[in-house]
Amino acid sequence: MAMRIPPAVIEEIKFRNDIESVVSSYVNLKPAGSNLIGLCPFHSEKTPSFTVFKNTQTCYCFGCGSGGDVVTFIMKMENLDYVGALEFLAKRVGLTIPRDPVDEERQTRSTRILEMNKVAAKFFHASLLSPDGKKALEYLQKRKFSPGLIKHFGLGYSPNSFNALMNHLKQNGFTEKEMVSGFLCGISKKTGKPFDLFRNRVIIPIIDTKGNVIAFGGRVLDDSLPKYLNSSDTPVFKKSKNLFALNYARKECADRIILCEGYMDVIALHGAGFTNAVATLGTAITPEQARIMERYTKSVVIAYDSDEAGQRAADKAFKLLGEVGLDVKILKMNGAKDPDEFIKKYGPERFRRLLDESKTHFDFKFEAILAKYDVSQTPEKLKAVNDISDIIAKVISAVEREVYIGKVAEKLEIAKDSLKYDVDRKIRKQTRERQKDESRKIMLDTAGFGDRINPDYAKNVRAASAEESIISIILTYPELLKKVKDGTYNLRAEDFFTQFGKKIFEKAIELYEESASFDYGMLGSEFTADEMGRITSIVLKRNNLSQNGEKELVDCIEVLKKEKSRQSASLADIINAKRNENK
Ligand code: CTP
Ligand code: MN
Repeated sequence: MAMRIPPAVIEEIKFRNDIESVVSSYVNLKPAGSNLIGLCPFHSEKTPSFTVFKNTQTCYCFGCGSGGDVVTFIMKMENLDYVGALEFLAKRVGLTIPRDPVDEERQTRSTRILEMNKVAAKFFHASLLSPDGKKALEYLQKRKFSPGLIKHFGLGYSPNSFNALMNHLKQNGFTEKEMVSGFLCGISKKTGKPFDLFRNRVIIPIIDTKGNVIAFGGRVLDDSLPKYLNSSDTPVFKKSKNLFALNYARKECADRIILCEGYMDVIALHGAGFTNAVATLGTAITPEQARIMERYTKSVVIAYDSDEAGQRAADKAFKLLGEVGLDVKILKMNGAKDPDEFIKKYGPERFRRLLDESKTHFDFKFEAILAKYDVSQTPEKLKAVNDISDIIAKVISAVEREVYIGKVAEKLEIAKDSLKYDVDRKIRKQTRERQKDESRKIMLDTAGFGDRINPDYAKNVRAASAEESIISIILTYPELLKKVKDGTYNLRAEDFFTQFGKKIFEKAIELYEESASFDYGMLGSEFTADEMGRITSIVLKRNNLSQNGEKELVDCIEVLKKEKSRQSASLADIINAKRNENK
């Protein structure tokens, strides 16, 4: 499936996309010696540990381990695969990548699915307005969705049939394979035959900002379950990277986005004139979605369901949206479970008032605490103070803390200084705990426990560490890689101890053979962005030592081989011991 871009083209793309200039458009970089540092865009931190190495054209975060070359950076930043990242970078400098037939095919396939989706959307919409869709239309009317709104959102109805859509798509020249890969048909396990996935549901088309129908949501007409059926990810759709109704909201939301949980909330809000409402697609909000919103607006009002689950989800959204630098508020609804119900019950004017009264995270939490305790009673008041100082202690900005301390002191009628004293104590405690957590994490990491990227590491730290040295040397000095490949050191893939190391070795040799000039960034075509971060850290460790690479290489190969044979010897011992036991 992966398209192969000729190495010379990759080189050209990388050459024209200087890592400093690319990273600078996402991160505010400052010089630090011969390198540059800034706040890592991949995890939240207060002191910069994200480093750009100009001479090697690589980057690495000493905080979270993300890193690689400019391609890896874009893979992670823009959530693209290797080829996608290269395309992105090529476009950035006005290069066109010569098309490979395999890629051409993939492109065609996506275009076909989008065409098919458009045909399907029209079919669903027509069905809603046909006699077949009478019940569905009545349902929408009962929910007070006007004909204009139904048309605006292109709502539809999927007939109560196993092949209505399929037959229609077939007549329009689409194949079963296309229907299956576009999540319109499933294959019956019993008969092996395809069938319509959306049946007897109100259909909500999901449209991207370019106007493509990329997916569908389908709601039942009654209380049956599951309430919604949503397209799973397809070649043209990733639910974690899209927002419902952003196609309409994007032009109306420069100041503010209203973020809802449900499709129906968004539709109702647009119907009532709040055209800056969007929703996630049947999942909790993702960091990608937060970043998308940050591109379109300055502030977000979270208008989630008023039940406990909705409020818990709001907490998570607060955190993610705050992390990308958005001004976030939460809307508090009483007397209705969600914005749709609220608007129907109390009208748009009252909803607008809620929007204007929406609260910051702090105010929201503070109110919840005040509601929980009877602060006219001393013991309860102390509990309230304790809870609220926990929250203030988590606020990063000292100025902000000061403001909150003032507010709380006034409201609870306590001295500002003593509240401040409590908060400061909590901050120190939190810092200590964080440090403890961090050192525990470092210890575990060093021992290789919880190592997701290379789970074999902990099984034999000596072997794995020798292996990492070998990898760092051959990735840093391609001339040694050549000698390795020619058999000079008698090092083969089987000698590697961890699966991860073995794969790096094999792929490095493979890529070296294919291209005239090798650099380890090319491994990006075979490894994920997180794996590339690990590879970068391995290479970096090497750069700190680098003296006699060849001697060290030979030594490490010896260690690796010795450890490997010891390992198999001890395995043999265990087996022998078992045999003796059984005698
Ligand atoms: N959702 C889902 N699958 C379900 C239930 C919910 O995908 N079984 C997603 C849908 O995207 C839905 C959102 O979660 O829009 C919020 O759920 P809910 O509040 O139950 O749905 P509403 O959109 O409010 O729908 P309605 O008002 O019709 O009940
Ligand atoms: Mn609802």
